[in-house]
Amino acid sequence: MLQKLEEVKKEFDASIDAVGSMPDMAQFKADYLGKKGKLNALMGGMRDLSDDDKKNFGARANEVKQEMLDAIDRRSQAIEIDAINEKLAENRMDISWTNKISDLGQQAAGLHPLTSVTRELEDIFLSMGFDILDGPHIEDEYHNFEALNIPESHPARDMQDTFWFKDGEHLLRTHTSNIQIRGMEVKKPPFKFVGPGKVFRCETLDASHEAAFHQLEGMMVGEDISVPHMIHFLRTLLSEIFKAEIKVRLRPGFFPFVEPGFELDYECMLCGGKGCSVCKQVGWVEALGCGMVHPNVLRSGGIDPDKWNGFAFGMGIDRLTMMRYHIDDVRHLHSGNLQFSEQFRAY
Ligand code: DAH
Repeated sequence: MLQKLEEVKKEFDASIDAVGSMPDMAQFKADYLGKKGKLNALMGGMRDLSDDDKKNFGARANEVKQEMLDAIDRRSQAIEIDAINEKLAENRMDISWTNKISDLGQQAAGLHPLTSVTRELEDIFLSMGFDILDGPHIEDEYHNFEALNIPESHPARDMQDTFWFKDGEHLLRTHTSNIQIRGMEVKKPPFKFVGPGKVFRCETLDASHEAAFHQLEGMMVGEDISVPHMIHFLRTLLSEIFKAEIKVRLRPGFFPFVEPGFELDYECMLCGGKGCSVCKQVGWVEALGCGMVHPNVLRSGGIDPDKWNGFAFGMGIDRLTMMRYHIDDVRHLHSGNLQFSEQFRAY
């Protein structure tokens, strides 16, 4: 009998770890300790034992029973802990949730890098006393060309590949210089204003060319304004923009609406002047065109060029933005790709 008891105990010890769930455990417990369980079956045979053996067997049977109960308790706890861990693994809490587009399609808003840079530029100009003007994207020939001293036969019209409307008179503005004309229509000198906006050219697209891009036009008209004023102003402007000392160079440039005209370059900040796809391997980036406003342009604005003069400039905002945020391909800016835009959420 005692030997049988030890065998049942051995069998119990060998199989308890294989019990994997609480219902199975209930069954297992019943198999050994239930009314019709193995332990009770053995107890049933006790009455045939001598008094001494009964005592011995009874004592050992009680021990075994307690050991079994303890073992069942331990194993049950382990099963419950496993079940909790499993649930945790299945239903992991995603603590990055607020950074993702939620099921409702909502997310924290942020500014596109072009918008941030444009607003920053506007702030700089406002602090310098400039007004901020707007002009239409769909423009007429007069404001985009004619009034800017670019007559119909002028080769400069071919310098910019224009998207024309079918009427042959309207176009998508090829530059923000139309804002000079629009501005002079509403302002009396002296004045200074800037006008940022989208411009359009029928370009071959590559890492630094888009068919729609962004410029900021500036115009300052007063009395006795000279080229050194302009250069000083543009230097100050660029150092404000980059918040750093950057190298610039001035080259003569031809634009029909200014005389003399210049192009101002700055050292490429992406490659530090070594050459990369953005600066077309030359190490310098064209920042802006500028010059003294041509008398014909002042005349188109109803301003007497013998009394007034001034300077104008037009700068690209896209490349500036690329430099600022180290973006190596202008096409990212218009990609509409959220993965791209989300990188700038903090700005
Ligand atoms: N409109 C010129 C362009 O798109 C840029 C420009 C050059 C604007 C000289 C100006 C200027 O105001 O003075 O290429």
